[in-house]
Amino acid sequence: QQQSRLTAKFYQDGTRIYDLGCSNGNFTAAFLSEMGGRDFDLIAVDNSAPMLQFFNNRISGFVGHERVRPVLSDIMDISFEKSSVVIANLTLQFIPVEQREILIKRIYDSLVPGGIFLITEKTINSDSDLAELQQEFYYRLKEENGYSKIEITRKREALENVLIPETIETHIERMKSAGFSAIEIWFKWFHFAAFIGRKKS
Ligand SMILES: C[S@@+](CC[C@H](N)C(=O)[O-])C[C@H]1O[C@@H](n2cnc3c(N)ncnc32)[C@H](O)[C@@H]1O
Repeated sequence: QQQSRLTAKFYQDGTRIYDLGCSNGNFTAAFLSEMGGRDFDLIAVDNSAPMLQFFNNRISGFVGHERVRPVLSDIMDISFEKSSVVIANLTLQFIPVEQREILIKRIYDSLVPGGIFLITEKTINSDSDLAELQQEFYYRLKEENGYSKIEITRKREALENVLIPETIETHIERMKSAGFSAIEIWFKWFHFAAFIGRKKS
């Protein structure tokens, strides 16, 4: 909800909003609710056809869904149009590490002055004890919320070597070197961090 409010605030007419790795539509659905009937142009990208199908079905009941353009593609293959807000929630972590810098630079270059980049990632602390502590307490919370030990282990194994987390410092450095002049950790929960980067007005 915070992200949809930020997006509504920073959206500039005549530009695009990107939801990268739009998945089941969590962001876009919240944003459609936030915008009501107001005008905008949103491009939602995912490389999973079943996900995009689910996304389409989910948003079809929302006012303004015809302003959303779903695109089935690898994020690395899209050519970004002029944008004012780019969102990448829990998506960069699946992009090969060596391609991340070029993607963030492309995002920065697509933004108009005053535009923002909202990125949420699972991060990892460079101190292995702290990293383990966060994992342990996060899994403990999952168990308290009804996930079995087997489910937690299966998910962890499925994501091993697929989801490559980086440190907060790495994310900030990459955003700085792409050109973002103002960067903040907007929200932090266990090892999940939501960043905002702004391009100078
Ligand atoms: C964890 S989900 C994202 C969650 C979603 N953004 C949200 O906030 O609820 C990651 C999504 O990124 C997509 N994805 C992963 N790598 C991708 C790539 N290279 N190009 C496009 N989509 C990708 C996956 O198909 C998946 O739907």
